[in-house]
Amino acid sequence: MAVIALCSASGSPGVTTTAVALAWNWSRPVTLVEADPVGGSAILAGVFKGVREYRAGLVELALSPLDAGDALLEVGDRVEGTPVTFVAGPRSPAQVPSLEPVWGRLADAFDDLDRSGQDVIVDVGRLGMRGCPEPLLALADLSLIVTRTNLVALAGVRPWAASLAEHAPAWRDAGLLVVGAGAPYSVKEVAATLGLPVVATLADDVDAAAVYHRGTPAGRRWGSGPYVRSVRAAVDAVGSRIARGRAELLEGATP
Ligand SMILES: Nc1ncnc2c1ncn2[C@@H]1O[C@H](COP(=O)(O)OP(=O)(O)OP(=O)(O)O)[C@@H](O)[C@H]1O
Ligand SMILES: [Mg+2]
Repeated sequence: MAVIALCSASGSPGVTTTAVALAWNWSRPVTLVEADPVGGSAILAGVFKGVREYRAGLVELALSPLDAGDALLEVGDRVEGTPVTFVAGPRSPAQVPSLEPVWGRLADAFDDLDRSGQDVIVDVGRLGMRGCPEPLLALADLSLIVTRTNLVALAGVRPWAASLAEHAPAWRDAGLLVVGAGAPYSVKEVAATLGLPVVATLADDVDAAAVYHRGTPAGRRWGSGPYVRSVRAAVDAVGSRIARGRAELLEGATP
């Protein structure tokens, strides 16, 4: 089992859309946790087009008397035709303070998912927001800052990358997920500027991404187009990075 946390530093580079896209294309069962403290469930309104009613989510998990693993199962909803179980986030920022104790409980719940062979993708939202679930970034096997490659985006990520370098190992494995490589800066330039590895890249295609962002109908060639191909490649790249990290850990533990 692996936990992958996605976040942003500034702007709206596509964290939520990317979390949905990765989850929908994940190669194993996966729990998608909407932990962005902004609230309002961008996913229920987005890929589900507001058709799916809010039933339960992190707030109910916080209130549940069940142990964390059972509570997570209770609040998660299977999404038919996908590998995804969806856990909705807070509906309003006013609920966010009540979520503070949830992050620790989720660590236990994720361990339970481990035993059932599930991965977890978490939409953490923007770094530095009030109520930002920092413990999830720290416990994730891989924490990725989603960013574009223009100067404004890179300037936003830079202080976070510097602070990660200063406080290593604040995250177990930190990297970048770049949307729109080469527009204008290349993956190489971005990695060198920020001192973080670019783990995956996604095509910059606002129309193709809209399928996962707000449930627009997929065109005939969408599934074989550059955006979906980049999502599948990103799924593979994230999986390989985690597998490599684990192999290194095991090697390190061998006397
Ligand atoms: N790969 C992509 N290429 C082009 N546009 C994209 C891509 N991914 C997402 N977008 C677009 O970017 C916009 C913001 O997406 P999204 O809401 O996922 O960003 P976010 O980082 O989660 O924002 P917020 O900080 O508001 O939560 C949307 O219009 C979405 O369609
Ligand atoms: Mg978002």
